[in-house]
Amino acid sequence: MTKITLLSFAAAAVLFTACGEDAKKAVTDATSSATEVAKQTAGNALEATKEATKEAAANAVDATKSAAADVVDSAKEKVAEVAEAAAQKVTEAKDAAVEKATDAAQALKDRAAAATETAKETASNAVDSVKDAAVATTTAAGTAVDSAKETVATASDNATGKAIFAKCAACHGADGKTKALGKSEIIAGQSASDLESKLAEYKAGTRNVAGMGMLMKGQAAPLSDEEIKAVAEYISGL
Ligand code: HEC
Repeated sequence: MTKITLLSFAAAAVLFTACGEDAKKAVTDATSSATEVAKQTAGNALEATKEATKEAAANAVDATKSAAADVVDSAKEKVAEVAEAAAQKVTEAKDAAVEKATDAAQALKDRAAAATETAKETASNAVDSVKDAAVATTTAAGTAVDSAKETVATASDNATGKAIFAKCAACHGADGKTKALGKSEIIAGQSASDLESKLAEYKAGTRNVAGMGMLMKGQAAPLSDEEIKAVAEYISGL
């Protein structure tokens, strides 16, 4: 623009100093030459501007690319860091979980073992007490049976002995404490075996203490050995 202005002033100067046809032509030439120069200069400037713009754009693209690459790299790096941290956390969590699971399994095992032990002990105690109870029951049953047998035996013996003694009571007294016919010994309270053998001797006719052996033989002879034993036991209990 400055060049064009200067050329315009030069052309005007030429126009005012040289008058006439030649001067006009010179002005025209100068003007067209100035125009040409201006066109060329503008074209060059445009070209240079274009070039500079292209280059700047290219540089900007490169810079942008590089910046983008940096961003990508740093993003990659960050992602890698985050991934690593996450992996670390996962590993830690896994370890902790495994540890917890192991502890829990151990606790369960311990509990199961304790429960088994308790159950065993309880079962064994139960078996023992059942055994004891069975033994006690058997013993009690045995004792009961024995005492029942004894009671039955005693009752039947007593009944037999008592029935037999009814006819003896006439001379020896209902309580067996009378001296029969004023001559015999008191028979109540003597031992069953003594009474048994004395009666057996009267039955056999081999006993005669106060001259009344024959009388007592008449009393003892009808009795069987079992009846003698029964009445002897009854008298010994009087
Ligand atoms: C009629 C009376 C009479 C009657 C009944 C009689 N007794 Fe005697 N008992 C006598 C006389 C008497 C003597 C003594 C006999 C002698 O001399 O050993 C005697 C003696 C005994 C003696 C021995 C006593 C001693 O310690 O020396 C016995 C035991 C006895 N009698 C048991 C019996 C029995 C058991 C009966 C029943 C089954 C019985 N008597 C029935 C009169 C009787």
